Amino acid sequence: MRMPRTIFILNGPNLNLLGTREPEIYGTATLADIERDCRTEADVYGFDIVFRQSNHEGDLVDWLHEAHREGATAVLLNAGAYTHTSIALHDAIKSISVPVIEVHLSDPETREPFRHLSYVGIAAADCVKGLGARSYIVALQKAAEIAA
Ligand code: DQA
Repeated sequence: MRMPRTIFILNGPNLNLLGTREPEIYGTATLADIERDCRTEADVYGFDIVFRQSNHEGDLVDWLHEAHREGATAVLLNAGAYTHTSIALHDAIKSISVPVIEVHLSDPETREPFRHLSYVGIAAADCVKGLGARSYIVALQKAAEIAA
């Protein structure tokens, strides 16, 4: 079954702790705040939003497959630390036809060297990073351009 104009917003490990997790890096918005703001922005474009978080790599792989199966318009993926380690996520992105936009609150390339490599980014269609919670909103705007 195709879901018209649905955007999957997938969040990886430790992002459930946003709000209290290293606020000097990630800000004080909780993941629930980000979800609320994404839904408000999505209404402007008439998108349905599937918003999920998991601390488990395989869940993210399964949800990328689901987005493809369901004919989603785009996926916004903040894979957290799996960004820098997961060939499985890289392969999943390459295995599906849905465009994936990589999202980060911080800018990993300006942080520790182990964050400079993004296996997600090598496969993703685009990336928005370093804008705090606003990264998700800008990524949604990019998804709207893709959908237009
Ligand atoms: C992050 C950046 C990653 O390096 C880190 O492991 C995270 C959050 C971000 O949104 O800035 O968990 O993806």
